[in-house]
Amino acid sequence: MAKKKDSPLEAPAATATAVNGAAEVLRLPAEVLFADQLEALRQNETDTPPLSWKLAPRTVLAYIVGGKTLEANLGGKKQKIEVTRKFFGDTAIVERAIVTLASDRALLLIGDPGTGKSWLSEHLAAAICGNSTLAIQGTAGTTEEHIKYSWNIARVIAEGPNSSNLIPSPTMVAMRTGALLRFEEITRCVPDVQDALVSILSDKNIAIPELPDANTIFAKPGFNIIATANSRDQGVNDLSSALKRRFNYVHIPIVADKKTEIEIVRQRSADLLSRYEIPAAIEPAILELLATAFRELREGRTGEGVSIKSPSSTLSTAEAIGTAVDAVLHCRYFGDGKVTSGAVARNLVSSIVKEDPQDQAALKEYVSIVAKKRGVSDKHWQGFHDEAQKMLR
Ligand SMILES: Nc1ncnc2c1ncn2[C@@H]1O[C@H](COP(=O)(O)OP(=O)(O)OP(=O)(O)O)[C@@H](O)[C@H]1O
Ligand SMILES: [Mg+2]
Repeated sequence: MAKKKDSPLEAPAATATAVNGAAEVLRLPAEVLFADQLEALRQNETDTPPLSWKLAPRTVLAYIVGGKTLEANLGGKKQKIEVTRKFFGDTAIVERAIVTLASDRALLLIGDPGTGKSWLSEHLAAAICGNSTLAIQGTAGTTEEHIKYSWNIARVIAEGPNSSNLIPSPTMVAMRTGALLRFEEITRCVPDVQDALVSILSDKNIAIPELPDANTIFAKPGFNIIATANSRDQGVNDLSSALKRRFNYVHIPIVADKKTEIEIVRQRSADLLSRYEIPAAIEPAILELLATAFRELREGRTGEGVSIKSPSSTLSTAEAIGTAVDAVLHCRYFGDGKVTSGAVARNLVSSIVKEDPQDQAALKEYVSIVAKKRGVSDKHWQGFHDEAQKMLR
């Protein structure tokens, strides 16, 4: 009888199931973490999904932007499931991303670091094909083998190349199953490696010349690629014109308004802290202070319209989330659990002042002019100023 040719590496769904069953996992993929919401949306589906898609485009959008409460039958029980907001930003951006994935062209999410590109790509893959783990991380060391396939060398020496000795790449698995491939930081890959993608995106197949027969893997409908690129890294390895033509660029901007940024920091820090079983209640006034400091330093201008120096380090929403989480942990482990503006100051200083001494100067200026002035009438800014002064001495 013919041997089953699929290698164990070709079972992404099994990986997710194994993960789901594990008692403790540091970070679950979106399709496992939000399985209830995805199932509730599937049960309430009214449109026809494109071939191989789990949900129709409108439902994928509803999963990403949230805001609905649905009734669903889960585990034999009728339940009300709230669909939470995953990505905060312009709905039109998400719509464009979804339409691109349904088309023949691949999607490139491009923007500043920490703007939620990888986060959006993970949720799009989870909602569209139910598997966000087929991913390639682009680095200077990524090779064509990572993109196409490699071999179990010892077995090839013993038996010669055959399909059971082949180690498929996530691309190949995505092609075989009609799923989405996530390609992180594509501009970090050298041009030769990027070029391997040109044929994959045009012909939608991978040829395996080493195999005597059945030597081409054809993509099933539903296969597509979501790539991400950092606009600060652009120019590291710019995409070739051939590749640019095959991608639809969707620009992910930094969150425009303070209220939304506060909401992202509040929701994401609570999500991240839930794994420590620590209540992440940060007083609204302190969250506002954190978001204000990040925005003013990023923009180089205070709310009152005064120009200030802006540090060169990234002051993304992701950094603000990190600062909030660190402040909560600090107060829980070394304080009385109540998050103070002093703890925010301590962690903000270490997340902004990294290598460049000019960043320290910029922050010093902000603290000694802006925070000091506000501290006269506001106890939180006072606490922020006092602690930051100590750190920056
Ligand atoms: N607009 C947003 N909506 C929801 N979450 C966001 C948003 N912007 C940032 N985040 C949060 O910031 C964190 C980092 O996001 P992510 O890793 O996706 O950034 P990125 O754009 O891929 O950055 P990099 O270019 O450095 O890889 C995530 O926890 C994500 O939830
Ligand atoms: Mg990323």
